[in-house]
Amino acid sequence: MMALETYNLSHDFGGLRVLLDVNLKVREGERHAIIGSNGAGKTTLFNIITGVYRPSQGRIVYKGRNITGLKPYRINRLGIGRSFQISSVFGSMSAFQNLRLAVMAKHGIRFNLLKYIDKMHEITAETDSLLDRVGLSDHRDELASNLSYGKSRVLEIAMAFAVNPDVVCLDEFAAGMSREETAAAIELVRQLTEGKTAVLIEHDMDVVFSLADRISVLHHGKILITGDPVEVRNDPEVKSAYLGDLHPEEGL
Ligand SMILES: Nc1ncnc2c1ncn2[C@@H]1O[C@H](COP(=O)(O)OP(=O)(O)O)[C@@H](O)[C@H]1O
Ligand SMILES: [Mg+2]
Repeated sequence: MMALETYNLSHDFGGLRVLLDVNLKVREGERHAIIGSNGAGKTTLFNIITGVYRPSQGRIVYKGRNITGLKPYRINRLGIGRSFQISSVFGSMSAFQNLRLAVMAKHGIRFNLLKYIDKMHEITAETDSLLDRVGLSDHRDELASNLSYGKSRVLEIAMAFAVNPDVVCLDEFAAGMSREETAAAIELVRQLTEGKTAVLIEHDMDVVFSLADRISVLHHGKILITGDPVEVRNDPEVKSAYLGDLHPEEGL
C-alpha cells in the first residue's frame, strides 16, 4: 500500500518549468529520501504535496485519497506533517509557545479562544510531552531566538510531529547543523518516525544513507530513479547526472 503518491505532477513558476511528470511513490512505513542538487525542485515538491501551491498539472494521492488543491491546514490535519528548510520558528515566542501553536492546529484551533480554553489542559500536556520526546523540556520557556541553532532546528522538527502525522515530510532537517548535532538529529528522527512514513529531502549523504529505506533522485524536476540505497548509489545515470554536482566528500 502506498502512503503517498503523485501522478504526473508538473509545476512551473511563470513559465519556469520546475517539476515535470513526477510520479513519486512512497510506501507505507518507509523512510523515503528525495535527493538532488540545489534547484532540482525538492522543496517545490513538498510545497505542492502540503498544499502551499496547487500544481500546474497532476494529482497528489494520500492513502488512496486525492488531496490535490486542499488547503495546507486541511492536509496537515489529514495526517501529513511537515518541517521547513528555512526555519518557521517564531523567535519572539518560547519553545513551548511555538510548539503549542502546532499542537493547536492539530485540534483545529486557529483563532477560537473558547475552543482553546476548553482543550487547554490537553494541549498543554501534548505540547509538554512532545518537548520531552525531543529533549527540549529544559528549554521549555526559553525564547526560541535564544536557543542554539541546533536546538531551534530540533524545535522545527518537533513542530512537524505535532499533528501526530502518519506521513511526515522533513526538508533538510539537519541543514546547517554541526556533525554532532546531525548525528543526534538522525537518531531523534529515527525514533520519531518509528512506525510512520517519512519523506526526507536531503543534501547530507550521511543522513540519507543512515535513514533511507528507498531514495528518489530528482534532477531538473524529473525523477531519475527510485530504488534502495545500493541501487541508487550504483546507477550509472545517477552517477553522470548527479555525482558531478556533489562535493567529493559527500561520497555518493
Ligand atoms: N515561489 C517561487 N517562485 C518562483 N520560482 C521559484 C519559487 N520557488 C522555487 N522557485 C524556483 O524553482 C526551482 C526549484 O527550487 P526548489 O524547489 O527550492 O529546489 P530545491 O529545494 O531542490 O533546491 C529553482 O529554480 C527556484 O528558483
Ligand atoms: Mg530546497
